[in-house]
This record gives sequence, structure tokens and C-alpha cells, in this order.
Amino acid sequence: MFTFIDLFAGIGGIRIACERNKGKCVFSSEWDKFAQKTYQENFNELPNGDITAIEEKSIPSHDFLNAGFPCQPFSSIGKREGFEHKTQGTLFFEVTRILKHHETKMILLENVPGLITHDNGNTFKVIQDVLKNELGYTIFHKVINAADHGVPQVRKRVYIVGFLQDKYKKDIKFDWPKADKKDKYINEFLENHPSGYNISKHLQGSYLFKKDDGRPQLIDKDSKIKVKTLVSTYHKIQRLTGTFVRDGETGIRLLSENECKAVMGFPKDFKVPVSRTQMYRQFGNSVAVPVVEKIVHQILKTSKTYIKNN
Ligand SMILES: C[S@@+](CC[C@H](N)C(=O)[O-])C[C@H]1O[C@@H](n2cnc3c(N)ncnc32)[C@H](O)[C@@H]1O
Repeated sequence: MFTFIDLFAGIGGIRIACERNKGKCVFSSEWDKFAQKTYQENFNELPNGDITAIEEKSIPSHDFLNAGFPCQPFSSIGKREGFEHKTQGTLFFEVTRILKHHETKMILLENVPGLITHDNGNTFKVIQDVLKNELGYTIFHKVINAADHGVPQVRKRVYIVGFLQDKYKKDIKFDWPKADKKDKYINEFLENHPSGYNISKHLQGSYLFKKDDGRPQLIDKDSKIKVKTLVSTYHKIQRLTGTFVRDGETGIRLLSENECKAVMGFPKDFKVPVSRTQMYRQFGNSVAVPVVEKIVHQILKTSKTYIKNN
């Protein structure tokens, strides 16, 4: 058993991955009311709100910190004036102040791959520098495609794993999970005419197939493929970046709730007590559970192997 905290918890995708590895959640934070609702329904716990308003000392001590911190507010991270300077509006520093106070042994951070190249790599340099040199972590990072780990969706994310140097042997190494031998494809999961997901003929004409504008991926029962990344704005089909199903009364529909669960690797019985719009937003913001479950497994294995026996 290990204890963990769930920051920027969303609907708890990382929590499911940790619980499957026998972790016990001792604190969660998520400020979005709708995500809180889904989280509470599934984990019987209302997450704490705005992390910027929570004192680090009021958070229980824990072995493992998880954070899929939001990716938008990075603009000023490289221009920070010092570690203690907390005015950047950069939520990464919410994570670091908690790490600093608690001297958390293990960490897992998740983000979009763009984090690595943002501001010519400067943002990621600062993140690595702070974790290594100011907080004393040995860190490893990798961009992993969830499609290689048991879901029928292309979803590339950067994962940063860290171990507090003081607690671990110097020669610590980390092996990232190996890709599954067998791929999963969307056709296995498509439903027959689920109701309420049709895209009207009007919308199809005006947006979906507008000339020179995007390339929606159209799939059907024979599609032995992986769907495009489920994004939080999937329901706004003007974006045209998504995957749509040839099915239903109007000929084309959105992915259903159950199909979203499948492409994100969520359990079938996961409850979704919110509107359809919120449902897409929440899954689109979340993690593909199986890949995180495997990474957490590797983190725990590494921790066991390299922990100092004081
Ligand atoms: C990329 S999502 C993480 C989703 C999560 N990993 C999951 O499995 O669902 C980031 C989340 O951080 C939340 N968030 C942003 N700012 C916050 C803050 N100041 N305090 C608490 N939560 C915040 C957002 O509402 C969003 O749900």
C-alpha cells in the first residue's frame, strides 16, 4: 500500500490508475464544479477546490504526488525571478511548493507533448531544473502514445517521473512500460445506434464537410483503426479534428459515452452525472487509464528496488 495525492484531479483518471496499484488517496484537488460532481459520484469524495488557496501544510503527508497540471499558462515560466516567486500564474509552482514542504518520495506529472518545445524548450528546461536542482529529484521523461498501451486512441502525452534523491540509491534507473503486444481497435467498441449522438444533416453540410477545412475521421464497424485524440472541445464539431461514426438516423454521429470510456480506457461502470458537453470535456481532459496504470506500476517497482535501507 502507498498513499498518494491527486492534484488537478479532473475526473480521477490518474486516481483509478493508482488505486489499481493498491494506492490510497489521501487528498484531492479540482476546482471545476462539474468535474467535482463526476469525481464525487465515482469516488465518494468531493475534491478540495482551488489549489492556489490551499496551504501545503494542510495537505496530509503522502508517498506519491500526481498532477496532470493544466498546460495553458506557461507563458511566463521562463522569466520567473526565483523559485519563491509565485506570481507567474503558473500552476507548476503549486506542485513544487507542495513537494518542497512534504519531501514527497515519488512523483508523476502528465502534460501535452507541446510542453517540451514550448518557448523554445525553455519552459521544460525550467521544469527540469527546478525538480532536479532546487528540489533534489532524479527525473525521467518520455512521450508515450496511449495507443501502444491498450486503448484504441492515438493520444501522445509527456510523462515526467521523479524520485527524491535523498531516499533512493544513486544508481537509480527507471524502465518505462513496454508496449502491449496486442493492439486494440475501435471497431471492437462501437455501439449500434446509441441515441442522442446524431449530427444533423445541416451541421454535416455546414461544418463537417466544408471544403478545405479540417479532416474528420469517419469510422464504422469495419474500422480496424485507432481514433484521433479525444480533445475537450470534441463536441464543438466546427473544430473538425475528431473522429465520427457512420451510424444513426442522420448517417453520422459523435462517439457515445461508452465509446469515450473505451477510448480512454475507463471502466464501463464509471458514472457520468453531467451533460454531454461536460462529458466530452471531462474525458478529453483526462488520461488514458491503462498507460498511467502501467507507469505507476513501474514507479512502484523502481521505488522498491532502489529505496535506501536506512
Ligand atoms: C488536464 S486536466 C487533468 C485531468 C485529470 N488528470 C483526469 O484524469 O481527469 C487539469 C484539471 O486541472 C483543473 N484545475 C485548473 N486550475 C486549477 C486550480 N487552480 N485548482 C484546482 N484545479 C484546477 C482543471 O479544472 C482541470 O480539470
